[in-house]
Amino acid sequence: MNDGPLWKGRFGSAPDATLLALTSSLSTDIALLPYDAAATKAHARALAAAGLLDEDAVEAVETELDRLVSEWERGELVPAPADEDVHSLVERELTRRLGEVGRRIHAGRSRNDLVATDLRLWCRDHARLTASDAAALVSTLSSLAAEHADTLMPGYTHLQRAQPVTLGFHLLAHAHALWRDVERFDAAAARAAEECPLGAGALAGSTLGIDPHIAAGILGFARPFANAMDAVADRDFALDLVYACCTCGLHLSRLAEEIVLWSSAEFAFLHLAEQWSTGSSMMPQKRNPDIAELVRARAGAGIGDLAALAAVFKGLPLAYDRDLQEDKAPVFAAVARTRGGLTGLRLALAAADFDATALAGAAGEGG
Ligand code: ARG
Repeated sequence: MNDGPLWKGRFGSAPDATLLALTSSLSTDIALLPYDAAATKAHARALAAAGLLDEDAVEAVETELDRLVSEWERGELVPAPADEDVHSLVERELTRRLGEVGRRIHAGRSRNDLVATDLRLWCRDHARLTASDAAALVSTLSSLAAEHADTLMPGYTHLQRAQPVTLGFHLLAHAHALWRDVERFDAAAARAAEECPLGAGALAGSTLGIDPHIAAGILGFARPFANAMDAVADRDFALDLVYACCTCGLHLSRLAEEIVLWSSAEFAFLHLAEQWSTGSSMMPQKRNPDIAELVRARAGAGIGDLAALAAVFKGLPLAYDRDLQEDKAPVFAAVARTRGGLTGLRLALAAADFDATALAGAAGEGG
């Protein structure tokens, strides 16, 4: 009863194992597990309000879902071979643990509204986390700028010395760009938290009389979906977040490029701390700025994620198509890379030393 995909009852023969392997998304979307559990709990409350689940059943569902999430966090959750995605895994486990009560959770919902809800929750939380990582880098840059409010250096155009400026002014130029990223991440979080798709079902809602305001309220969305078909088809919120990551990656790459240039012997404006450099056994004079080089290179993958995600949506007929499963990998990758870059450059800069004499010397020679 408990094995096989959710739709197994409709077919006479089991799916080919290779088909399952090639179409499974579990290794990627397992990251949605806490959100799938939260959405499932909220749905159980909505079912109860519609008289479709009693209070004891709701509490049993909540307890088992909390248990499931902690098992996953401890690395103790073992998926079954037929779990094609995180949503199938959660429903199968609930049914295994609670029997009929677990099965009833499927009433009035589909994986189509569920996956859209889970991903919105993930994007909301991770957009907020990325915004605070970006704000932390802005604050490091601002402190360095305050320290170097009077440190002269050359300002460049065409990478030719143009006019003398201060290091504080230059660092704040990066801080302003990154602050716009903070705002873009905040806006992406708000967009993701706008509409709750739960209750939209496969594409046209259900006839069970479930009030979509209940789940929307529990999950912290501004409101439930307005149009069920749009609710399951829409991934604009994910595109907003990946665009914010892409832009932030471009900003980081410009800062990274200057860290690389400035830490070279030719500029010698900046000395990276030993803990934030790598060395060479053959050339002991070297202190390589690998972190900045990698952040610079990874901005390219950020552009790639935006292109990959946009291409998933292009020309896709309404409402849900399996193509949409491919949205998660670029979203998760973009956020992880951006957060890594923000943290890496923040810590490397906080530990670095600026050479005020070299900076002022170059300012005096230029212009
Ligand atoms: N794994 C799917 C995804 O991420 C979940 C939705 C599947 N829905 C369906 N009707 N096959 O998009």
